[in-house]
Amino acid sequence: MRVQVNYEDIFKRFNGQLPEGIFLNTNFEGEYNTMTIGWGLMGICWGKPIICVAVRFSRHTYELIEKSGEFTLSIPKNTVMKKELAICGTKSGRDIDKFKLCGFEKKDIIDKCDLHIECEVIQKTAMDKNTIEESIKNKYYKTDDYHMFYFGAIKDCYYTKED
Ligand SMILES: Cc1cc2nc3c(=O)[nH]c(=O)nc-3n(C[C@H](O)[C@H](O)[C@H](O)COP(=O)(O)O)c2cc1C
Repeated sequence: MRVQVNYEDIFKRFNGQLPEGIFLNTNFEGEYNTMTIGWGLMGICWGKPIICVAVRFSRHTYELIEKSGEFTLSIPKNTVMKKELAICGTKSGRDIDKFKLCGFEKKDIIDKCDLHIECEVIQKTAMDKNTIEESIKNKYYKTDDYHMFYFGAIKDCYYTKED
C-alpha cells in the first residue's frame, strides 16, 4: 500500500539518513541497479522541489542515469540496513547483481525501505575542476574522478506499507 507524502515532511528523514546512506535506484529499459549515496541536497529551484545527487563519472549508476534521465531514492526505515548499504556502496552493478546479493526484488524501488522519492533529471552539471577549492580537490579528487550533479525534480514521494 502506498501513502502519498509532501516533500516538506521528508526533509528531516532525507538529511538524517544521508550520513548512513540512501539507496539511489536506476532503471534503463529493464537494466536495474542501485548504489548507496551519502551526499545530496534537497530544496527549491526553478520553482520546484528538487533533490540534487552527486554521482562520480566512474559509477555504473552514472551511465544508467545518463541514459534514463531519472532516478529514485529509497530511504531505509532506520539504520538496520547497514549490511545492504555497505554492499551497494562498494560493489558495482557492472560486475555483480546487487539485488540478488542483498535479497532485494528487482523493482524501481527497494521495498525493504519505507520511503521512496521518484525524480526526473531536469538539469545536470558536471563539476568544473578549475573552480573547486584546492583542499577539497586534494581530499576528494586525487584520481580526477569528479561528480556529475543531477538535479531531480520530485515527481512522486510516498511511504510503502505492508498490506
Ligand atoms: C556510505 C556511502 C556513501 C556513498 N556516497 C556516494 C555518493 O554520494 N556519490 C557517489 O558517486 N558514490 C558514493 N558512494 C560510492 C558508491 O556507492 C559505490 O562506488 C558503488 O559501488 C557504485 O555502484 P555502481 O558502480 O553500481 O553505480 C558511497 C558509498 C558509501 C558506502
